[in-house]
Amino acid sequence: MKEAVTFPKDFLWGASSSAFQIEGAWDEDGKGKTVADVNSFKRSHLQADTKVASDFYHNYREDIKLMKELGMEIYRFSISWARIIPDGDGEVNQAGIEFYNNVINCLLEHGIKPFVTLYHFDLPYALVEKYNGWESRESIYAFERYAKICFEAFGDRVEYWQVHNEQNLMIRVDERMNIEEEDLYQADKVRAQMDYHMFLAHALAVNACHAIVKDGKIGPAVSSTCTYPLTNKPEDVWAAKMNDAFKTDYCLEMHFTGKYPGYYMRYLKERNIVPVMEEGDEALLKSAKMDYIAVNYYRTLCASFLPVEETHPIGERAFRGNQVDFDQYGYFRDEKNENLTASAYGAQIDPNGLRIVLNEYYRRYRLPLIITENGLGAVDVLTEDNKIHDDYRIDYIREHIKAIGLAIEDGVEVMGYSPWSVMDILSSHQGFKKRYGFIYIDREDHDEKQLKRIKKDSFYWYQNVIRTNGKEL
Ligand code: BG6
Repeated sequence: MKEAVTFPKDFLWGASSSAFQIEGAWDEDGKGKTVADVNSFKRSHLQADTKVASDFYHNYREDIKLMKELGMEIYRFSISWARIIPDGDGEVNQAGIEFYNNVINCLLEHGIKPFVTLYHFDLPYALVEKYNGWESRESIYAFERYAKICFEAFGDRVEYWQVHNEQNLMIRVDERMNIEEEDLYQADKVRAQMDYHMFLAHALAVNACHAIVKDGKIGPAVSSTCTYPLTNKPEDVWAAKMNDAFKTDYCLEMHFTGKYPGYYMRYLKERNIVPVMEEGDEALLKSAKMDYIAVNYYRTLCASFLPVEETHPIGERAFRGNQVDFDQYGYFRDEKNENLTASAYGAQIDPNGLRIVLNEYYRRYRLPLIITENGLGAVDVLTEDNKIHDDYRIDYIREHIKAIGLAIEDGVEVMGYSPWSVMDILSSHQGFKKRYGFIYIDREDHDEKQLKRIKKDSFYWYQNVIRTNGKEL
């Protein structure tokens, strides 16, 4: 790969996080319980939960000072819906509004632009109890109201918004959606309805942003996939394309055309799970015009063709290990790519895949792109003199920044880079064992210690990258 990279003068450098993964204070000052809280409590005996997390709620001023020291120009974070409206669709909690007002004001005082996600995996749990969450149309209107409250409260200072974080990934994972059906068919039926309702909620939020926020810009935050065929057999090439189509592309196509693409409708029909739609929905979906695409990128995938079996009908999913990388009969099977090295947690590291994704999305939609997540989950070791020598993270981020530079040279409009994560966060299945941050949070899963903030080697390295606008990598 070519060494020197030139980034545009106004390229935005930043870092990211999400509410339930850093804030803690899970029930303080009126916040309601969320699906993310409930899921984390199920694993409290194994790992840290959302109760304290990185304790950003009580440390935000100190943390924002560190963001400033890092040189961040943007901070991508999420608002917790249940902090603003504890039961999802009832009374507004002024303390929640005040907290985010303080965070946003503090960011602006430090010259950092807020990039805000409305919903990052943490649906208010009361909506699950009342409506089974996204299965009901009620949740769409609850979300629209929540979004409008945020635009009205913060829109005078927040220009950039994202609606749902990774709808396309969230929908695959039963616990994130609170899908409890054991029967695969029933689970997929509920999933399809929830997904459809989230698309409608997305469109309503996009339109509300444009109506309320002067010069507001809003877009989807997509979990990107780039899949290689295991071999050059035609059926494997088709499988790789379908893996991308089912895990990501149908979602972007729905956002931008207001209709499920043909191959996806075919799947919904063959599986007999076409969601209930109402008159006017398509017009609403088509009316929502996105301003940019936020891209989350970690790795590439590899696939082979998975034929239908007598006991497994076309479209049925199969799980080996996790729900994110499911296989699908009649379509694809997830495979290991022998040409890539995987991280300790199995992510196939591939900077070139980011160049492919950026080129591909830009070619299709001709909208500005921003990378809102990219990073390496790893075990970090605190030395006796309180240092973290995370060269592996520096290597990962350096190579991905180079790939972005190449995409820019390819003609792709990339607005900025906001890797995951500004500080160590609560990782859903590995708690604080798996870390992503530039800032180390000195705690263990079951020992909060003093929650001291320690700058990792990657902090100083990234600081210099930002200072030189990517010249020194
Ligand atoms: C992204 C999510 O998909 O992956 C983040 O938006 C998450 O919330 C990140 O933390 C890394 O995943 P994990 O499972 O390693 O925490």
